[in-house]
Order: sequence, then C-alpha cells, then structure tokens
Amino acid sequence: MKENNKTQNSLSKAVINWYPGHMAKTKRLIQENINLIDIVYEVIDARIPYSSKIVDIDNYIKQKPRLLIFTKNDLCDKVETKKWIEFYQKQNYKVIEVDLIHDNITKEIINKTNEMMKDIIQKRQEKGLKKRKIRALVVGIPNVGKSTLINKLVGKKAVNVGNKPGVTKNLDWIRINQDVELLDTPGILWPKFENQKIALNLASLTAIKEEVLPIEIVVEYILRTLEKYYPLILKERYKIDSINEDIVETIEEIGRKRGCLVHGGEIDYDKVYNIVLNDIKAGLIKNITFDRWNEYETL
Ligand code: G4P
Repeated sequence: MKENNKTQNSLSKAVINWYPGHMAKTKRLIQENINLIDIVYEVIDARIPYSSKIVDIDNYIKQKPRLLIFTKNDLCDKVETKKWIEFYQKQNYKVIEVDLIHDNITKEIINKTNEMMKDIIQKRQEKGLKKRKIRALVVGIPNVGKSTLINKLVGKKAVNVGNKPGVTKNLDWIRINQDVELLDTPGILWPKFENQKIALNLASLTAIKEEVLPIEIVVEYILRTLEKYYPLILKERYKIDSINEDIVETIEEIGRKRGCLVHGGEIDYDKVYNIVLNDIKAGLIKNITFDRWNEYETL
C-alpha cells in the first residue's frame, strides 16, 4: 500500500527542501532602509520560540533596539514559555508575550517602545534634533503573526492576515499613536532550518509545511512529540494511549476512531493527516510548546 510505504519512511529520512527565493528581496530592502527604523519588533511563535526565530537577524537590523514578541500566547505551554523568556532576557532581549487574537496589546507595546527608546529620544533632544515619531518595523518568519500584530496596532485591517505576499513594497508609514508609526508591511525572513528538528517544528506549527516536508512525516512528528510531552492531549483528542512503533498502526487507529474510511472500509490516511494538522492550525490543540531549550546542544 502506497501510504504505508510513505509513512514507514522514518523521521530520520525526512528531506529538508525549502528555498525562500523571494526573501532575498526582503533582506535587501531591510538592509537598505534600516537607517530609517528606530525599533524592530521581532515576532516569534511562543510554541516554537527557537525554531521560529530568524536566522542571523543581527546582520539585517544592526544594533537597532529590538523587542522580541512571543505571539500565540493562548496556544503555548506557559511553563516552557517562561523558560524561553528567561533564556532570551539573559541575552539582553526585551521580551513580551501576547495573545493577538483575544487581547488588546497596543498599550503594552507602545509603553515598552517608549521605555526602550527613552535614552535615544533624550539624546536626540540634547542634540537639538526635531521631535519626530518613533519608527517601528515588524519582522519575522512566515505565519508567526506579523500581519495580525500590525492590524492590531493600527486598529484596522492594514495587512492581509494569512496571506503570504512576496514582501515589502515601497515604504509606507502608518500611525499607531502620537508617538509611534509603523512600516505598513512586515519583513518576512528566513527561519533557521539548521537541523531536522527545527524543520519539523516549523512544518508542524507554521504555514510552511507544504514546501518543506511530506505531510505524513510531519504528522508522525506531531504525534510522537505529543506522546513525549503531552500524553494527556493525545488521549483526550485522539483517544489513544501511546504511539505504536509502526506509525501506520497508530494512524489507522486514529482513522478508525474518527471514521476516516474509504470504500471497502480502508483507512483514508490523508484524511487522518489533515485532521491532525488542522487541529494544530485551528488552535484546537492548546498548551503546547515543541521547542525545548534543553534539547538544543548549541544553546
Ligand atoms: P504572518 O503575517 O506572520 O504570516 O502571520 P499572520 O498574521 O497571517 O498569522 C498567521 C495565523 O496565526 C493567522 O491564522 C492568525 O490569525 C494566527 N495568529 C496570529 N497571532 C495569533 C495569536 O496570538 N493567537 C492565535 N491563536 N492565533 C494567532 P490563519 O488561520 O492563517 O488566518 P485567519 O483565519 O485567522 O485569518
């Protein structure tokens, strides 16, 4: 059976094949315009605060003040988030965690921005420079919530959420309040992809799965990670206690329990894969964090 063979490919055989060609353009645009920017809002997904971080961001944004924004706070495992926030704070990052869907975060971000820019604004005044608004740029890898953040800050639909455009066009500034303005389009940049775990995390929790890894490998990874860290979720959501060594058996078990059958009572494997992926995408699986800082030797 085709699906069986495909699924039996072990995680270790997963091939990482993703080249974001259009992102070279963003990189150039950011580098060319960084002098116009006062502060960078770097957006990462709280469920994968290491995997979703932009690779070599320092090369693009020089020494600009940077606020690290953990999004999807409503979906992450708070215990793990706390560890990651401490991890980044130790590296001198200013960090906030937000739930962009349910909370009004504008005031918090503006306050933090003013606080971070205080010294710079004072220096400008001492030099006799004219007062102007603080200019902010939102950057991040695809699907972390950049557009949602911009729309929240601006208070109207400035950017298409869920849309994956090529990138930043001409520079247009939008007013957030009397102190801060924002570049209307986010800078979309590279994730790390430096090892297979990161690629699997990205494929599991962001929108780039289709281009990166086969769906059955991603779903196997999701189920095995849930089993390792969140067995209760596995039990409650899929009514299974453990994942079989042969993943096909588990996929079939879920398929039978969920009624994913084709003619003749065979399991519809694709349907099972899509159920699992959609559960994650739709935020039906909450309180999960797939990045564990003690799993990365380089940290
Ligand atoms: P991007 O610009 O970085 O690519 O990301 P975008 O804002 O498009 O957000 C990607 C998806 O993540 C969107 O869902 C968005 O609603 C969701 N999202 C962003 N921030 C949060 C958050 O804090 N909590 C939760 N639960 N979800 C968040 P989508 O399904 O792709 O689009 P839509 O159906 O919501 O329009």
